[in-house]
Parts: sequence; C-alpha cells; structure tokens
Amino acid sequence: MADLTLLSPAKINLFLKIVSKRSDGYHNLYSLFKTVSLFDRLTINLSKKDRITTTNSEIPCDSSNLALRAAHLFAKNYGKPIPLDIHIEKNIPVEAGLGGGSSNAATVLFGLNELLMRPFSNDQLKEMGSHLGSDVAFFFSKGCALCKEKGDVFQDFDLVDSTEITLVKPHYGLKTPDVYKAFQLQESTSPSLPEIENELNLQKIPFFNDLEKPAFFLKPEMRILKEKIEQSGFKAVLMSGSGSSFICLGEGLLLDSDLWRAKCRFISRSENGWY
Ligand code: C5P
Repeated sequence: MADLTLLSPAKINLFLKIVSKRSDGYHNLYSLFKTVSLFDRLTINLSKKDRITTTNSEIPCDSSNLALRAAHLFAKNYGKPIPLDIHIEKNIPVEAGLGGGSSNAATVLFGLNELLMRPFSNDQLKEMGSHLGSDVAFFFSKGCALCKEKGDVFQDFDLVDSTEITLVKPHYGLKTPDVYKAFQLQESTSPSLPEIENELNLQKIPFFNDLEKPAFFLKPEMRILKEKIEQSGFKAVLMSGSGSSFICLGEGLLLDSDLWRAKCRFISRSENGWY
C-alpha cells in the first residue's frame, strides 16, 4: 500500500511573552515561532490496523502518542477509519521546548491529506491541529509566525532563512505544564506589547522568554548552564519554549560532553508544500 516519508521539523521561540492567564488554565502568549532544520523523519503507511513505532524508547507507542491522535482526528473528520502504520525516526529531543511531538502530529495531518488526494485545505488542517495541542497549528504556517492566544492563532512573519543557530540541551528535560504552573505574571520583566510591536516595526527581533524564570526556579542548574554557554563565546543564549533546550546565536566552544547539541538554520515551507 502507499507510503510516504516526510521531514518533521523542530520549532524554536525567538521571543515568548506570557500576556495573561486564561480561565481554561492555559496562558495567552505573544511569541515568534520559527521552524529550524532539525528533523524527525516520519513514514506513514495506509495499513490494516494502527501501529506506531519509534527509534526513541521514551516515546509512548500507544494512543497517547500525539501523532496517532492526529491520525484519529483526521479520520473522524474524513468520516471513516484510516488504519495507519506510523514510524518516527526521532532526532528532536523530548521535553526540550522544540515542539517535536506537535510537529509529528502536524506532519501526520499533512501526510494523510497527501495520501488521500487532499480532501482538506491547509486552513482545515490547521484547525484540526489546534485541537491537538497549542503548538500544532503553527506548523501549517510558512515556518515563521507571530503567534497569539494559546499559540494557535498566528500571522505569517518574514525572516531570513540563512540564519544559523546552535541548539544545546542538558541531559534532563522539563515538562511544559510544570513550567507554566511555576510562572508568576507579576514577576515578569519582559517588554510590553507596544514595546515589542515597536521593535518589530524597526525590523528588530526581540530575544527573551518569560518561561526562563520558572524553568530556572524548577531547575536551578539551568541558570548556571545558560551562563556557561554564554561564557563559551556565543553572542546570545535563550531557552526555547518551556525548555530545557537553549537557542545559541553566534559561535561558541562548549567542551561539556554531557550536552546534546545540534547546529541548524532557519527554514520555511511553501504555501501547500512541506519541509
Ligand atoms: O497545548 P499543549 O498540550 O501543548 O499544552 C501543554 C500544557 O502547557 C498545557 O496543559 C498547559 O499547562 C500549558 N500551556 C499553557 N498555555 C499555553 C500553552 C500551553 O498554559 N498557551
């Protein structure tokens, strides 16, 4: 039966402001999301029954896997079951703030739509994505977007793709709900919304993350790690999303062999294509 292999990119947040706490327990954000050239590789196969396999033993291979939930949601909207064999070659670290699970879910939605001769539009896939997780819809942007509300409402934003970054992650991860729970709005010292808008109008990209403080509160060793990365020569260092990975701009010499790292660059996708 037909099969399809697709790249599933990581995302970073170049700035992340938490605007307010919502009554549904989530937080309203204002954040610049960007896809980068660190990829999982997904193979999907129309099959006789659902099966998911991955190269990372930390990832559940049951219906709690967001990629499988994406397939089920797609089938529900399609109006009939679509049993699938999904294999995920995992390169994006988990609990890293790099959106790996969300990207896998978006990639399954895109891939299934291709396999079934595009029954849904990009906007419909985006809408499905927003029901799976706050970050999923973003992957239906062109790869760079100003995201609002839970992160699922966005407008495309233009950035030069050639920018190179290094991602660095300690051996431990952080759970997104724990980091959001530890966030204290009154302690935020990030720029106001008009200040951010003003910078963007001047073609400047703010570089901050409101979730660093709660992440460093939960894992004090992360503050020390950030300082160490800065001292190794990088021009600027910032935690991505809810951590525990760091985005490093410029060049640095990090000798610590315990750290996972990846060099990558900004990437984008065409209107109806994929990565
Ligand atoms: O939407 P998603 O399942 O990825 O979110 C994981 C958790 O992160 C949520 O359960 C919530 O605790 C937190 N979150 C939040 N506000 C957001 C996005 C995520 O509080 N905008």
